[in-house]
Amino acid sequence: MAKINKLRETWKTRTGIILAVAGSAVGLGNFLRFPVQAAQNGGGAFMIPYFISFLLLGIPLMWIEWTAGRFGGGFGHGTAPGIFQSMWQKNRFIKYFGVIGIFGPVLIFMYYTYVESWLLGYAFFSITGRYAQATTQPAMQSFLQGYQGLQTNEYFHGIGWAYLFFIITFSLNVFVIYYGIRRGIEKLCNWAMPILLICGIILAVRVLSLGIPNLLRPDWNLVNGLGFLWNPNFAALKSAKVWLAAAGQIFFTLSVGIGVILTYASYLTKKDDVALSGLTAAATNEFAEVILGASIVIPAAFVFFGPREIVNIAQSGAFNLGFVTMPLIFQRIPLGAIFAFLWFTLLFLAGVTSSVSLAQPVISFLEDEFDITRKKSATIFGVVTFILCQPAIFFLGKGVLNELDFWGGTFCLVLFATVETIVFAWIFGIDRAWKEIHHGADIVIPKFYKFIIKYITPLFLLFILGFWIVKEGLPMIAMKNVTSEQYPYVLFIRGLMLIIFIVLAMSVAYAWKKRKILIRKEK
Ligand code: ALA
Repeated sequence: MAKINKLRETWKTRTGIILAVAGSAVGLGNFLRFPVQAAQNGGGAFMIPYFISFLLLGIPLMWIEWTAGRFGGGFGHGTAPGIFQSMWQKNRFIKYFGVIGIFGPVLIFMYYTYVESWLLGYAFFSITGRYAQATTQPAMQSFLQGYQGLQTNEYFHGIGWAYLFFIITFSLNVFVIYYGIRRGIEKLCNWAMPILLICGIILAVRVLSLGIPNLLRPDWNLVNGLGFLWNPNFAALKSAKVWLAAAGQIFFTLSVGIGVILTYASYLTKKDDVALSGLTAAATNEFAEVILGASIVIPAAFVFFGPREIVNIAQSGAFNLGFVTMPLIFQRIPLGAIFAFLWFTLLFLAGVTSSVSLAQPVISFLEDEFDITRKKSATIFGVVTFILCQPAIFFLGKGVLNELDFWGGTFCLVLFATVETIVFAWIFGIDRAWKEIHHGADIVIPKFYKFIIKYITPLFLLFILGFWIVKEGLPMIAMKNVTSEQYPYVLFIRGLMLIIFIVLAMSVAYAWKKRKILIRKEK
């Protein structure tokens, strides 16, 4: 394949791309999903598989995606179809696997932006005192369900507020990508990431100085709250469920296996470092997750509600710890409204810097493969995904969000990561890959990672993929947990996902056909 000399945008500074990748990684996953996963999987039991997955999957995949992205960018490709094709030029089908790297982010975007908009709404309600009357778990839960339009109650009649905040959030996302890599995404992350980290530090310090709020339960103290997460439980290493949850969290939180880091890295130049930058972005995410994320929700919920209740709340709904428990906790501390505002602002910023990264693959695909200008691409993306976001809003209680999260946020990630690791380490070849990682690198990666990337990461991935398909994939495909009321909605969203995939695959076929004709003409 010939190198294309098309002028593509590049990042302005190295800090810019690191903050952008860290911005993509640090998201709702760090502050909402992580505590729920940890609580549901036994606290300390979860952390060992989590760290092992970080070392054996997370870090290698970061390096793989940074390197493959930069490599593909050199051929004028910013998305997986072209990037895979440039690494495996003889195979005509690999580009269709790459479609997952555009499809997955779109599926996640279809619900992520909506959840992100709740955070903006809640930041506003925290300051205006709108949920101040809801002082118990059931009342706060009603508030959330009223906001989501799942029930009409004393707090809300209909979905008006939620829709308003969705429009604002969605527009902000499109606005950022409209301005492109440097003037949009890089600028946003340059200011949003430091603010987010400062908010996180303030909240963590506040929580860590809570003392014992419930004098009747002195055992509900901070030390035990931290112990809930940090006391290791080696017995859990035998539980496949905990391993799957931990590995799944690593994918989601680091944004690896999605396709977005490939795209971001494609805007690097060949001489830019990927080894240290990839590691720094991964480390920033882990700081936000296991230092800040882990010091806020779990210890705070522990000292106010105790260990049993944390698990109950986490099991009662994925968003309850963040949207129900945390506001209740803030109500009980001095200046709580301000802390609640900081909490939701932090989450909102974490969300926006992630969702713009989910949008970027489609934009790059349209720009690179169809020569559509960035502004036009952003407009097309805005119109199409605005429509695609509607099912998650209007059919929220009907299992639609679950489906999107399952296929986009879990299945595609594991499958995509497996394919890309094999292409990188075995087809492109580990020796070439190792050289490519170290091109322009500011550090020398320890040699044992060469072995890990070649053998351990793909084996680990294949194992997880197989296990996961049997354990969770098949029951999900068979709609084991779908109620009869949800059935038509789930079928509808599956049909819609299939259509999106087919349209993307056909676009890839069309783009390559066009390219072939062009090359033939030039000859
Ligand atoms: N990595 C992003 C998050 O954690 C998607 O929310």
